[in-house]
This record gives sequence, C-alpha cells and structure tokens, in this order.
Amino acid sequence: MTLIICYTLCFFLTIVASATTAQEVNDRYYPRYHLAPPYGWMNDPNGFSIYKNEYHLFYQYNPNSSLTPGIAHWGHAKSVDLFHWKHLPIAMYPDQPYDKTGVFSGSAIIEDDTMYLFYTGNVNHPDENPDHEQHQCLATNEEHSDTAFVKYSENPIIQGAEHQPNFRDPKVWKHEEAYYMVLGNSFQNNSLGRVLLYKSTDKIKWNEVSVLHESNGTLGYMWECPDFFELNGYYVLLFSPQGVVPEGDKYRNLYQVGYFVGKFDYETYKFVPLTEFVELDHGNDFYATQTIEKAKRRILIAWFDMWEQNYPEGPDGFTGCMTIPRELTLNKKLKLIQKPVSELNLIKGRVLRGGRGNKGDSVTLPDKAGEVLIEAQREDDLEVLFEGANSTVIVTYDVSNETITLNRGGNDGIRRTQWRPRGKFTWKIYVDASTIELFTGDGEVTFSTRFFPDGPITVRLGNNSKTQKFKVTEIGRTIINAQTTNNYNI
Ligand code: FRU
Repeated sequence: MTLIICYTLCFFLTIVASATTAQEVNDRYYPRYHLAPPYGWMNDPNGFSIYKNEYHLFYQYNPNSSLTPGIAHWGHAKSVDLFHWKHLPIAMYPDQPYDKTGVFSGSAIIEDDTMYLFYTGNVNHPDENPDHEQHQCLATNEEHSDTAFVKYSENPIIQGAEHQPNFRDPKVWKHEEAYYMVLGNSFQNNSLGRVLLYKSTDKIKWNEVSVLHESNGTLGYMWECPDFFELNGYYVLLFSPQGVVPEGDKYRNLYQVGYFVGKFDYETYKFVPLTEFVELDHGNDFYATQTIEKAKRRILIAWFDMWEQNYPEGPDGFTGCMTIPRELTLNKKLKLIQKPVSELNLIKGRVLRGGRGNKGDSVTLPDKAGEVLIEAQREDDLEVLFEGANSTVIVTYDVSNETITLNRGGNDGIRRTQWRPRGKFTWKIYVDASTIELFTGDGEVTFSTRFFPDGPITVRLGNNSKTQKFKVTEIGRTIINAQTTNNYNI
C-alpha cells in the first residue's frame, strides 16, 4: 500500500516537474537577435569570455519561473559572432552549502584552455541580522568540455568576514604575472557603496590591496557589478550603483550604470578619477554591465531590463534579455563611446526602404525586428514613432533645448538627455520585438528601453518631421526559437 502511494506520488511529482521545466514561451515579445533565456528568468551577464574561438556568455538564471529571480543559477550560451547564440545546459546550480541561496554574478578568465569561473556564493539567513552573507568562489571546466563545470573543493576562496554582508560580483583580469579582482561592497553600516581591489599570484589565494573608489555620499549605498579596464591609456571604473537619488533628467531608473575615467598605478593600486560619475545609458532598462577584450576591442554587454518592473513578458514565459553587444572607445573628453559591434552588419537582411523621409512616411517591420537609420538637418526638430497595438515609443529631438526624449508612455515612461549633433545628425535605432536601442551617430548617447507592443511594429516619421535619409533594414532571427530551445535539458 505504502509502495503504491509512493509510486502514485512520484508519478504525480514527475508530471508537475516536467510541466514546469518544459514551459512554452510566447513569441510575441521574445527577442529575435538579442540573447534571452530559453525559459525562465535572466538577469546579469556573467563570465563573458572567449574559449576555443567561441564567445561564452553565462547569466543569472532562474530555470523554474519567469516571474521571480528565484535562487540564481548560471545559465549559459555560446556564439561565434555575438548574435547567433546557442543555449547550453545550466553551468552551475546552487547546490553547495556556500552558494545554496544563489550562484551570484561573476566573471571568467581563460588560461591554458581552461575556463576559470569566479562567482559569489550567496547564503541567506532568514530572520537573522544580517540576513545573508556572500563569499567568492571558483569553478573550472572539465578538460575538453565547455559545458561541464566543477566547483573548487576548497571554496570559498575569499571569505571577507570584515566586508559582510554585501560583498559580491568578482571581475577578474590578468596583468603581467598577477591576477586582479574588483568586488562590489557596501560599508559604514551598508550606507555607502565602494569597489575593493584584490590581487593574487595563483587565482586561489587573494589579498585585498586597496579600496579602488568609494561613494562620497552622493553615489548610493551599494556598488554592484564593478568592472575595471584600460582604454586608450586611461582606466575606466564601470559599476552599477544602487541608491543614487534622481537629479533632473539623471538617474531616473531604480538603479544606474555609470563610470569614472582616471589614472591607475599598479605599484600603489591607487585609482585617481579625472572625471565626474557619468551615466552610461539613458534608457529605462540597462543594468549590470560586463566587458571583455577581444583583439584590442573592448566589448560591453548589459542586462536589458531593470529590477522590480513586472513586465508583461514574465507571464509569457521569460524575463530579461541582453543588449546588443557594443564596442567601447574613449573620446577626447574622456566620455565612453558605444557602437554596436560590427558583427551586427552580418545579420542585416533586405533594405525595406531608403531615400528621404517626410512626415507620415512609415514602414512595418517584418517579424518586429529591424534597423532604422535617420539622417536629418541639425536645425530641425524630429519625431520618430514605433507603434504597435497597445504600446508606442516616441523618440524626439528638440533643437531649441538640444535634447533627445524617449517616451514609452505609461507611468514614468519618459527619459531625456542633452545631445547636440557634432557634424551630421545621425541616429541608428534597433528594434527587436520588445526592445529599442538608440545610438546617436557618434555613439556618445544611447537609450536602451523595453516596450511591449502586440502585433506588428510600424516605424513612422511624426508631424513636422523630414529627414535626408530614412532607411529601414530588416534583421532576421539569430536566436534559436524559444520553443526549440526548450528541448535542452534545463
Ligand atoms: C545585480 C545583482 C548582483 C548579484 C546578482 C544576483 O543585478 O544584484 O549584485 O550578484 O544580481 O542575481
């Protein structure tokens, strides 16, 4: 009798389990050429790296539900060109005492054909104060495999007792013969954010060598996902502060991404910023960036979403996607310039329209995806609309105020920033089912915003708008269809 009950129960549980893991994802908002999870919840990019000539991207992943972040796993995908992504099995599960409530964010370095994944093990202690602790951990791939990972037997490699409870998101790089790691931290009773610098000679034993930079009180209570790299002879400290107070058009999102540019000395481990803190993107949904260097190019990718949004994609079976990978350079004013990586040209399809544009001219995008190139007079206002059923994004240039405004409607839908075209007025705008990314001609200003149009998306020039060029090009699917990818054993 007991056996029968047990069998029945097991059978029932199996059905429930398969019903929740092989969920179908509705295609209406699912990106065609931006990486999104096969099913479930995606947040930060992790472990961005190149192994055996393929890009690998891991990400914070909840395979069990698209409605909540759950307990973070590391999801995994790879690509030869940053656009055709293949989903791979989950790389790391929260299955150890030191990471049982989250395999949190981290990075990768590749050496001697081995992938070294550095991450934060999160352990919650409900009803205690503090209610969680975070330690740094290591995993490596099994020989010749890019899908099987083994956690280091002596984890955690950094305990950081004095830096608890917010001590996370290791970004590791090699310089000459040593390894360096930046970590996000909060101090003074969790009231101020900062970035700590660690050093190692063997990737296992780490010493704290400096506080790279810290909040002076205006930059929030916690700095997440730090990154630190050299660009044109300067050093960029890029991070995601929490708790920055909105100031006019600045810092309107729940959390921000921004950077300082400065000088760094590997002898003293001191970073001296030469700029103010600058926000990297002006859209509604851009967070937790990570970069890698490839053949002297610095490539950045970000989580194309924001915490606590409850977007309608959730009930559709997925939450979150990644931005278009962008190449970073530094201009003479020490501002970061972002351009879509040139590989994007490989996935463009037919030109749907070219030539000049006048008010009312419109194009409906096939499969809700495409590139819109605008060249206009610097002296004229401009309005471009992206219209779908139930959701429209309006992008305007206001010549008298020298501002770009992106309005996706709804509560808190407006984002705005200063921009004055230097030379020719050019915008490139990328649309993908539920994403819109605007790059000004020189890449000095970007907006990354999610919107959720049902049915087809039409691009239209607004009233009083005329352009010298209004070129629309289709972009095809590069991500294996969401339904197909569910065949992976997740
Ligand atoms: C940033 C972040 C990281 C953390 C991860 C958890 O979005 O909060 O600091 O490691 O997400 O999923």
